[in-house]
Amino acid sequence: MSNTWFIKDKLFTKYLGSDEIQTIIRTLASRINHDMQDKVPVFIVVLNGAFIFASDLIKKITVDCEVAFVRLSSYKGTESTGEVKEIMGLDIPLKGRTVIVIEDIIDTGLTLDGFLQKLWLMEPADVKVAACLMKPDAFKMRFPVDYLCFRIPNDFVVGYGLDYDGFGRNSSDLYKIHTP
Ligand code: XMP
Ligand code: MG
Repeated sequence: MSNTWFIKDKLFTKYLGSDEIQTIIRTLASRINHDMQDKVPVFIVVLNGAFIFASDLIKKITVDCEVAFVRLSSYKGTESTGEVKEIMGLDIPLKGRTVIVIEDIIDTGLTLDGFLQKLWLMEPADVKVAACLMKPDAFKMRFPVDYLCFRIPNDFVVGYGLDYDGFGRNSSDLYKIHTP
């Protein structure tokens, strides 16, 4: 893909290339394989945005594992409250299991914080968080992000599974909004 991308009314410029992303994911997968060598983790992929990151990461996991997918529905008015109203699609019992939640991006952290609270009610042995991207300047929560690929500034990004108004997910590279 080229260095600039028009999606709807906005211009984006290339920010992280596919090779760089894949290199970091390999390192992250090695860490997870090492940490999970005597466990059988359940990966929970938060749809939609995490589908590409999760696919690339999970292909590099060599320990026995299960994979589940959730969509979160949260109350969001003009502000994200992070209150997760419903968890859809979680069909694996988590009691006593080691869970690794896979997210595309952690911004304020409100959405994931609400989800983590609900997960703990299902009595897992442990819950870890794996994220491709995090915006530390926007983060308001306290939960640890155990496995992280990239810390990025507070700019809106698309590509590599992330969307602008539904578009832009279909790129192996990550783009950020162009601010002239
Ligand atoms: P919070 O603030 O709850 O938000 O951590 C996390 C969710 O917000 C979306 N998000 C983005 N989506 N580009 C996107 O395409 C971004 O720069 C961005 N920042 C936040 C995303 O759905 C994430 O799960
Ligand atoms: Mg999104």
